[in-house]
Amino acid sequence: MQLLSSEAIMGRRIGIVGAGISGLLACKYALTKGYHPIVFESRNTVGGVWTQTLKTTKLQTCKPFYQFSDYHWPSSVQTLFPDSQQVFDYFQSYANHFNLLKHIRFNTKVVSIKYEGPSDQDIQSWALWGGNGDPFGDKGKWIITTLDLLSQSIENNTQVMEVDFVILCLGRYSDVADMPEFPSGKGPDVFEGMVMHSMEYSALDYENARNLVNGKRVTVVGFQKSALDITIECSNTNGVEHPCTIICRTPHWNATEFFPWKRLYSNRFSQLMLHKPGEGLVLNLLASVLSPLRWGMSKFVENDIKKKQPIEKYDMVPDHSFLQEMSSCSVATVPAGFYENVEKGSIVLKRSKTFTFYKEGVLLDNNSTTHDHMEAIKCDLVIFATGFKGDQKLKDIFASPGFQDCIFGSPSNTLPLYRECVHPRIPQVAVIGFSESAANLFTSEIRCRWLFELLDGKFKLPNIQEMEKDVLEWNKFMKRYSGKYFRRSCMGALHIWYYDQLCKDMGLNPNRKKGFWAELFEPYGPSDYA
Ligand SMILES: Cc1cc2nc3c(=O)[nH]c(=O)nc-3n(C[C@H](O)[C@H](O)[C@H](O)COP(=O)(O)OP(=O)(O)OC[C@H]3O[C@@H](n4cnc5c(N)ncnc54)[C@H](O)[C@@H]3O)c2cc1C
Ligand SMILES: NC(=O)c1ccc[n+]([C@@H]2O[C@H](COP(=O)([O-])OP(=O)(O)OC[C@H]3O[C@@H](n4cnc5c(N)ncnc54)[C@H](OP(=O)(O)O)[C@@H]3O)[C@@H](O)[C@H]2O)c1
Repeated sequence: MQLLSSEAIMGRRIGIVGAGISGLLACKYALTKGYHPIVFESRNTVGGVWTQTLKTTKLQTCKPFYQFSDYHWPSSVQTLFPDSQQVFDYFQSYANHFNLLKHIRFNTKVVSIKYEGPSDQDIQSWALWGGNGDPFGDKGKWIITTLDLLSQSIENNTQVMEVDFVILCLGRYSDVADMPEFPSGKGPDVFEGMVMHSMEYSALDYENARNLVNGKRVTVVGFQKSALDITIECSNTNGVEHPCTIICRTPHWNATEFFPWKRLYSNRFSQLMLHKPGEGLVLNLLASVLSPLRWGMSKFVENDIKKKQPIEKYDMVPDHSFLQEMSSCSVATVPAGFYENVEKGSIVLKRSKTFTFYKEGVLLDNNSTTHDHMEAIKCDLVIFATGFKGDQKLKDIFASPGFQDCIFGSPSNTLPLYRECVHPRIPQVAVIGFSESAANLFTSEIRCRWLFELLDGKFKLPNIQEMEKDVLEWNKFMKRYSGKYFRRSCMGALHIWYYDQLCKDMGLNPNRKKGFWAELFEPYGPSDYA
């Protein structure tokens, strides 16, 4: 094991793309280790997704699970679920506290990153990451091309910079909208009203958003957090006079704000019930023996949700299990008053697998097998709360088609990232914040910790073949438990097992509790790893 000298560290340039929580954490860890990071951020401030949210958006994760290990929430924030302004202020204050702002170039968009070094063919023949197992490699550099978004001059608005390592913290829930495709003549082009994506709506301030929907017949597409939040906002503005329609393709086991059952899935015992990536015979047998309990626990939570929300009455009971919802990080918090507004009539719930547009609104395909019943919904504004294409954003930042294909992988598999951080065949690059967990801030923090121990030479990665094997094991796990949402690469139901692996790599004891029973049954959270 060879540790880098301080001269060697100082001489290495690290480029970080994005100044959301992942980029801020990467910057802070880089500084702590003595590097000189340069952060590129296309927005004019830190905070990423939290810079453009609805006024009503709050943290869905409770405060203690969404905080920096070395910089806790201020005592002035009393609530368990801070609102978006409080979250944004907290991130700004973190950036100020650790003096990160001077390392960030705002209004600077990274257009591409290009590898200059060995050819694609050489890279494919490597047995070790970077050719020699050194995270900085010994042969290549990355060329980062940036666009100054404030520059008036077209000739001088791009810059090129050479770095030794790139950390991509682009975020997966912003910038690139996932817009459904429609057959020709049945898409938004035939609609006479207005169409927008949730990210455009979220970018409006409260007054403008209110004015936009005021008095309009609004239809929202989607049934996850953005859709629920926009729908409640519209329905509160327009009341029963102009009800807001929400089109749901897949009902979900969404929760109320006070929802203690997620904790059932955050101890080691709950993880024994799952088949794990690369598990041995004993763990495999145990997971099989405990499978009735796994089923029972999921049913228990489903029944509780059915009791607390009128989802049976409105035909919104999901076909999949609560376990799948947890495993795919898809448990959204239902905004207060949502089903009350459904009851009053200011929200109209519609289930439809597919839909198309016509001149005056949308046509719902209520019977997808025979296509014999299309229900027309007249509307003035359609808001697509249909999610984002984070994988596309990640792919597009690479200049080389070879690396683009590598990072994107196959759409029928998860993104092939080892430890959800590095691609075995893309040297000198790490990705932080792509794969999800129930508490994303902490997950990005422990990944940054892991990455900088790796860059520091505290441990080595296994050879490429072993890393690829591990990636496939996780891919199998995600597909088994997350259903069609496997590409979210969520750690939600197996986060302790995942953190165990990071801890073992870093030479830390993965068992963080005191005593056998605490280890087995107490919930694990960020404070266990501080
Ligand atoms: C509205 C909302 C609420 C959420 N609530 C929760 C929650 O309660 N709990 C939870 O755990 N998770 C939540 N999430 C998930 C959220 O994505 C993470 O918690 C976290 O904020 C992501 O941070 P990030 O830094 O990884 O990405 P982002 O916040 O998306 O930041 C990425 C940054 O990279 C910049 N960038 C991207 N491309 C480029 C480029 N080419 N050049 C320069 N800059 C670039 C972007 O401008 C952005 O600032 C929420 C997400 C959304 C959208
Ligand atoms: N803290 C907060 O208050 C808050 C607020 C907003 C967002 N967020 C977070 O931000 C992330 C993104 O959330 P999101 O709601 O924007 O996106 P999302 O979780 O990806 O949900 C997309 C929704 O759109 C639906 N959809 C996609 N394509 C469709 C199509 N062609 N036809 C009909 N429906 C379609 C999906 O249905 P299927 O299920 O059938 O695919 C799903 O209901 C999540 O992690 C979320 O938790 C948090």
